[in-house]
Amino acid sequence: MMYQVFDNTTFCVKTFGCQMNKHDSERIAGMLESFGALPVDTIEDADMVIFMTCCVREAADTRLYGQVASLKNIPLRSGSPFKKRLVAVGGCIGQRDGEKLTQALPHLDVVFGTHNLASLPSLLNSAIEKGGYQVEVLDASTSFPTELPTDREHPWAAWLPITIGCNNFCSYCIVPYVRGREKSRTLEDIVAEAQRYVDAGVKEITLLGQNVNSYGRDLYGSPRFVDVLDAVDATGVERLRFATSHPKDLTDEVIERFGKLRSLMPALHLPVQSGSNRILEKMNRKYTREHYRELVAKLRNVCPDIALSTDIIVGFPGETESDFEDTYSLIDEIGYHQVFTFIYSKREGTPAALIPDTTPHDVIQARFDRLVDLVQARAYELNQLDANTDVEILVEGSSKRDSKLLSGKTPKNQTVHAPIPTGSTIEELSGTLLRVHIEEAKTWYLSGCVL
Ligand code: 5AD
Ligand code: SF4
Repeated sequence: MMYQVFDNTTFCVKTFGCQMNKHDSERIAGMLESFGALPVDTIEDADMVIFMTCCVREAADTRLYGQVASLKNIPLRSGSPFKKRLVAVGGCIGQRDGEKLTQALPHLDVVFGTHNLASLPSLLNSAIEKGGYQVEVLDASTSFPTELPTDREHPWAAWLPITIGCNNFCSYCIVPYVRGREKSRTLEDIVAEAQRYVDAGVKEITLLGQNVNSYGRDLYGSPRFVDVLDAVDATGVERLRFATSHPKDLTDEVIERFGKLRSLMPALHLPVQSGSNRILEKMNRKYTREHYRELVAKLRNVCPDIALSTDIIVGFPGETESDFEDTYSLIDEIGYHQVFTFIYSKREGTPAALIPDTTPHDVIQARFDRLVDLVQARAYELNQLDANTDVEILVEGSSKRDSKLLSGKTPKNQTVHAPIPTGSTIEELSGTLLRVHIEEAKTWYLSGCVL
């Protein structure tokens, strides 16, 4: 299907939330470009603005409303083939609110959900031709969006979804309601896409899913995630990563691949959410603090240098000072290179939203602040271990702070800054692997010089 209406038009995709959303945005950009529309960086230059939304916490929700409302004040560029700018909202808020959004935001033209990215061009086309708003939200996907073209952020790195949806129903989390039940792609599809990327020069592949460890359960229990790791490694990819892992489903076979599988990088994001068994149970996480510690011990046994990162929710309803101390001590004991800390955000429709809570906000904020201090102190300590060592980095571009510096990632996923060697340009270095001597380690990055 071709749509003439996109000739000479421009679009901009604004993305909120997780990597799955960022990846969906790459598919949207790929699709619209294939229909002749041109990507631009700013709303000012865009004839169409597509918001890929997130509702995992309230803050992202309110931000969307503000941003869409403020579009009214930005005039359409001169030379636009349209009479007014088209505004589309997709992703998790689109899925959750559907038509209701057009009441709250009357100048919306298109609402779509998480299961029908592929419908966006036809919905935009109808909005242009017929006027009025177009809403399409489906209950489940009929196919994987991975069959759509992509416009990847970096030519040398690719996200590769292996599952979509989630079956875990953690009691605080809205994701299973807006992303639907877990569906796995076939191993053949995954490997074919990975091989295409490798053949096109992609250096790093990140396998994506809400819980990659339960991959394959809907395919009669086989193949399993470990088979995906082995098969993608065999494509010859330089660097392999995956996210996210639920601790209850992390198997010994997957753990054993760290430090053994050539391409698998020594870094793992393993969200623990809380260190208190009482809270973990109320969260419906289905593991204990002890089990989590055992996983970490096994990981460090096979890969002593592995860099761990995690997610923590502070202030889950009914969290006591003693529950929080359990979280604090676990974070201190394990030692993470990065911890994403969140204050609990009540999401209507989830079981946790029904749990009464009387903990004052300033108590929760104080716990959060204490935890952030600890996280920073531990990250700083761990990074010091890499000072005065040589590491290999994948160059991502120039540093945002200083264009004379290049920025790249170590196998452990630490950011490295180093001066761009004289005689080289950042364009030719981006996407290459370089050896760097680390001179100094800070909390969130390392700095050094190219060897
Ligand atoms: N409130 C706060 N944080 C949440 N997360 C998910 N749902 C909520 C919520 N209702 C966090 C979890 C998850 C991360 C992606 O977002 O820590 O791992
Ligand atoms: Fe949400 Fe839990 Fe699924 Fe992660 S595993 S997406 S936290 S329900």
